[in-house]
Amino acid sequence: MKLGIFGVGYVGLVTAASLADKGHTVFIHDTAKEKIAALQSGGIPIFEDGLEPLLHQNFNRLSFTHDVHKVISECDIIFICTGTPQDENGKADLSQVESAVNEIARHSLSDKIIVIKSTVPPGTTEKMEQIANKQTSDSNFSFAHNPEFLRQGKAVYDFMNPSRIIIGASDKKVQEILKSLYSAWDAPILQTDARSAELLKYAANSFLAMKISYINMISQLSDQLGTNIDDIASGIGLDPRIGSDFLKAGIGFGGSCFPKDLKAIENAAADIGVELPFIGQTLDINEKQGELFFEKIKAYGKDLKNKKITLLGLSFKPNTDDIRSAPSIVLSEKLVNEGARVTAFDPLVRDFPVEGVHIAHSFESAITDSEITVIVTEWDDFKKLLLVENIRRMKQQPVIFDGRNMFTLEEVKSAAEQYPLNYESIGRPQVSSLGVKNQIFV
Ligand code: UDX
Repeated sequence: MKLGIFGVGYVGLVTAASLADKGHTVFIHDTAKEKIAALQSGGIPIFEDGLEPLLHQNFNRLSFTHDVHKVISECDIIFICTGTPQDENGKADLSQVESAVNEIARHSLSDKIIVIKSTVPPGTTEKMEQIANKQTSDSNFSFAHNPEFLRQGKAVYDFMNPSRIIIGASDKKVQEILKSLYSAWDAPILQTDARSAELLKYAANSFLAMKISYINMISQLSDQLGTNIDDIASGIGLDPRIGSDFLKAGIGFGGSCFPKDLKAIENAAADIGVELPFIGQTLDINEKQGELFFEKIKAYGKDLKNKKITLLGLSFKPNTDDIRSAPSIVLSEKLVNEGARVTAFDPLVRDFPVEGVHIAHSFESAITDSEITVIVTEWDDFKKLLLVENIRRMKQQPVIFDGRNMFTLEEVKSAAEQYPLNYESIGRPQVSSLGVKNQIFV
């Protein structure tokens, strides 16, 4: 098929490259001329594992353009993958989706199927269909919602190996066409109406975020009891009714989806008089988790003024350079406000918006003479932190605050036997070479 894609964000590019890989010819449009120019010459504006080779292998089936006419004249099915960022009130800003729909409708000379992949509040697809069909009587536009469940860093894998494919459309013909498009994938296909598909996406993201906040809430209690949250998570996760995924305690979730989508659905529900208390609490617990972690660091350092504090990891999770809503932002702002000398190292992030944070260019220079070392993102590279040569680089009897429970307590204990070390994590007992359990701060 000849397929159009509007938007070269990570959803648009991964969708385009994957559809091309299945043999389709794909026309990709974006209003950002510099991004299109970069793509035309083989560059990629985002970092996403596996995307570059997939784009290059399928280059002959991909056309990048900022010419709307080209996409519209060539394609009968167009996917909208533009962003739906949070507006100043926490609602989903639909302007990019609406402008893509208007552009398509204004210039079309034949009937089109328009598939919204962007995450949009329930009712949006129907509204966009009305907007498009009002523009002209020459063409007919049928809309569908086909949400994506891609994780950044694993988006290509997720697109090729989906747990399910959701097709939300009231038009039976559209349902059948999209079903045949996805027949090349080995995954259950759920057919529903567009509104249900839209809510389903928010419900899925909220549920996952709720699982994280749930375990983080229990970790706050575990901290006080001196119990081990990782054992607790493993123990409850073994119950298949609960499942072990998304039960890793840490300093909280970030990223371009969870924080924004939870706010958006909370707001969309409030607009029609429905309260979603789980959603608000999920966000509140997430915020509190970051605050409690900062308070722990502050309590340890007493006066943080002029202390060298090293943050390891800035991206919202490993294997991405994305810092949107990353816990590193709020934490570093708080530390800078305390007068600490904050140095950070991340394998991919080079630009960081918090003033006063020094970005180190190597892991080794970042930790050298560090008084407090904080793991913010669990990049594999940081596993080497417990090697004796690295412990020696930090200030004597260093302290590590592990915001991701990256190390097992056994690993830390064995390192602490070789070299003096203090270690604090999330919802687990402290470890100290001094051997004073639950009281390292002497
Ligand atoms: C998420 C959804 O997983 C995906 O289906 C949806 O399409 C977009 O949003 P993503 O934001 O890429 O994907 O990241 P994800 O891997 O889900 O992690 C989100 C955040 O939760 C990260 O900050 C991560 O560190 C945190 N997290 C995840 C935890 O703190 N604990 C966990 O157990 C899992």
